[in-house]
Order: sequence, then structure tokens, then C-alpha cells
Amino acid sequence: MLHRRRRIAVVPGDGIGPEVIAVGLQLLEAINHHLQLNLEVVMKDWGATLWLQEGIGLPAGALDDLSANYDAIYFGALGDPRIPDMAHGKEILLGIRQGLDLFVNMRPVKLLDESLGILKNKQKIDFVVMRENTEDLYTFIGGNFKKGTMDEVAIDQSVHTRKGVERIIRYAFEYAQENKCQKVTLGDKSNAISFGGSLWQRVFKEVSREYPSIKADHLFVDVMAMEMVCHPGRFDVIVTSNLFGDILTDLGAGLVGGLGMSASANIYPGKIGLFEPVHGSAPDIAGKKQANPIAALLTAGMMLDFLSVPGVLLAIEQAVILAITNQEVTPDLGGLQTTSEVGQFVIRETIRCLLGE
Ligand SMILES: NC(=O)c1ccc[n+]([C@@H]2O[C@H](COP(=O)([O-])OP(=O)(O)OC[C@H]3O[C@@H](n4cnc5c(N)ncnc54)[C@H](O)[C@@H]3O)[C@@H](O)[C@H]2O)c1
Repeated sequence: MLHRRRRIAVVPGDGIGPEVIAVGLQLLEAINHHLQLNLEVVMKDWGATLWLQEGIGLPAGALDDLSANYDAIYFGALGDPRIPDMAHGKEILLGIRQGLDLFVNMRPVKLLDESLGILKNKQKIDFVVMRENTEDLYTFIGGNFKKGTMDEVAIDQSVHTRKGVERIIRYAFEYAQENKCQKVTLGDKSNAISFGGSLWQRVFKEVSREYPSIKADHLFVDVMAMEMVCHPGRFDVIVTSNLFGDILTDLGAGLVGGLGMSASANIYPGKIGLFEPVHGSAPDIAGKKQANPIAALLTAGMMLDFLSVPGVLLAIEQAVILAITNQEVTPDLGGLQTTSEVGQFVIRETIRCLLGE
């Protein structure tokens, strides 16, 4: 079957970003070849080097080009010690998330193999966090007063809009319904953060009434963090604001093998999405061939899933489980393999699984 052409913009970024994305691209190439998907990849050199050499973060017209001419963005990571304020990252990554209004940051927390679990009481961990992706403290509204003096005041505003809160909560319920999940749990801090917290509470109650078959659950976010550790099996879908989601999903990564295992999707339903591993540029291991490529490989699977290519994500997961069982993993998972060696193993097993071998 000849598939319609799908164009993917690839932003490897900084640090280990290019190392794990190189492996992800090999996987996409192999899948493209075997399934004849008609994928076209276009590389983008956005990152620290372009920023430092030419002062360019997100080039002029990039957002219009992305939304008009691409189906997805495959993204590595940004972050460079030479740019301590992450100015380029704010312009590029947050620029794309907010500029394309990618309001859903979907981050699965799934323990693929029990050996990666760090919890004493073994239980199934398989839930997804829907993090609001365009508001909260990431709007950079605020400022300094008397900066650099002993009287300095620093203010960051946490922004929550009715529209922003409603659409992420609705997406969480829609996702739960489509994927036969039993429960959506809201994580907020409405007992202390009155105005935004109350908005999340009211909208959650209102929207949940439209989905009577799904249990609407609530936890204050501090208790939610504890429950993720003590009883992670109680969660199906978590919906939460931008900052809480950011923190909770790193905790989630810790439960399932670390940042090298966690994939994510930034989406606006029906439009272009950005797909990236949850981890950053990891300068401490960059260039050492130690970066775990599994998060980037699972991310490629999520991207194909969103591009309506069925079965690939599952095949990648099966291949990853096999890699873990056979100790074909990088040092973060206790193995001795390099980024590329893990990649070759997972790619080979993914293709075997897809071909039914
Ligand atoms: N989406 C993004 O681009 C993004 C996300 C988080 C952090 N950052 C940036 O990345 C830089 C480093 O941040 P950080 O150290 O807080 O977070 P990080 O995720 O880069 O690294 C945290 C720790 O996890 C390890 N780690 C991360 N990914 C790994 C992988 N694939 N395999 C093995 N180990 C891995 C690192 O070695 C490090 O010890 C900073 O500039 C930060 O702002 C970018």
C-alpha cells in the first residue's frame, strides 16, 4: 500500500540530543523501508551552536513553515552550559509549544520490565500524565524590582485560563474514554493556591459530569507525589498544570527506569505535534556514548502512533523489553552497551516483531 507522504522536521538539539536522535532516525528509516510509510525527514540545526554563532533561536517564519508543511516534529533536547539562562531553549522549545498552541503534554509512565522498578512493593505501573503545556509559570510574566540589591523582589506569575484548563481536562477525559481507562485524577494545590486552584476544581467537576462512565478523582499534588511512589497502580490518567506536571513526570520517570526511559508528545489534536524524550541534554554524559536511546526510540513510536501508523509503538516496546531482559542496555540501566549498540538491538528486534518473525 502506498501511504501519503508524511514530513517530519527533526531538531536534534544539544548535548545527548543528537546522539539519541541519530539512533531514532535509524529506527524510523528501517520502519519506513519495511512498511513503505513514505516518511520524509528534514533536519533543522536549531540549538546552542546556531544561537551562539548567529544569534538565531527559532528562525523567522519557522512556526508558519512547520504548521503548513510538516506532520510532526521529532525533537532531541536543548541545554548547553555556555547558555546558563537557557535563552535559546525558551525561544525554540517553548516557542514551538506555545506558538503552535501544543496544549497537551502527554507523558506515559509505564514500567516495561519489573527489573527496572525501584519500589519495594511490586505493582503494575502504567498510567499517563496529561500536563497542561502552554500556561502556568511558563508564560514568563513577571519581573524584578531593585534587581541586584538586598531589597530585590522577583515575581513570576502563574497563569491559568478557563480555556486552557478546560481543554486539557477535556482531553484527559476523551483520552480515558478512547483508551478504556477507568479513572482521571486531577492533581492540584487548591487548598493553598486559591484562585487558579479553584478554577481547576470547578472546571474539573463540570467537565467530568459529561463522562459519567469515568471516575473523577482528585488529590492534592503533594499527596499525589507520595501516592505515585506508594500506590502507583491506583492511577490511570493524571491531569495537572504545567509546573506540577513537569515535576511529577520526572518522579514518574524515576519509577520506571529513569529519564532514559521516558517518552513524551506535545500535541494539539488534529494538528502538527512535537515528540521528544522527557530528558534534557545531559551535559554530564554528552559525547561519552552512554546516553540511553530508549526514550528517543519510544518517542519515535509515539510519533508514528499519532501519525496513524498502528502497531509500531507496541513493537518498539517489545523490542525494548527484550533489550532489558538480555542486558543490552546502557550504564544507566546497569549495562555496558553504547547508545548505538542498544539502538541496533532495538531496531533489529522491532523490525522482526513488525514482520512477525
Ligand atoms: N526538553 C528539553 O529540552 C529539556 C528538558 C530538561 C532539561 N533540559 C536542559 O538540559 C540541561 C541538563 O538538565 P538536567 O541535568 O537537569 O536534566 P537531564 O535530563 O539532562 O539530566 C538529568 C540526569 O539524567 C541523566 N540522563 C538524562 N537523560 C539520559 C539518558 N538518555 N541516558 C542516560 N542518562 C540520562 C543525566 O546524565 C543526568 O544525570 C539543562 O540545560 C536543562 O535546562 C532540557
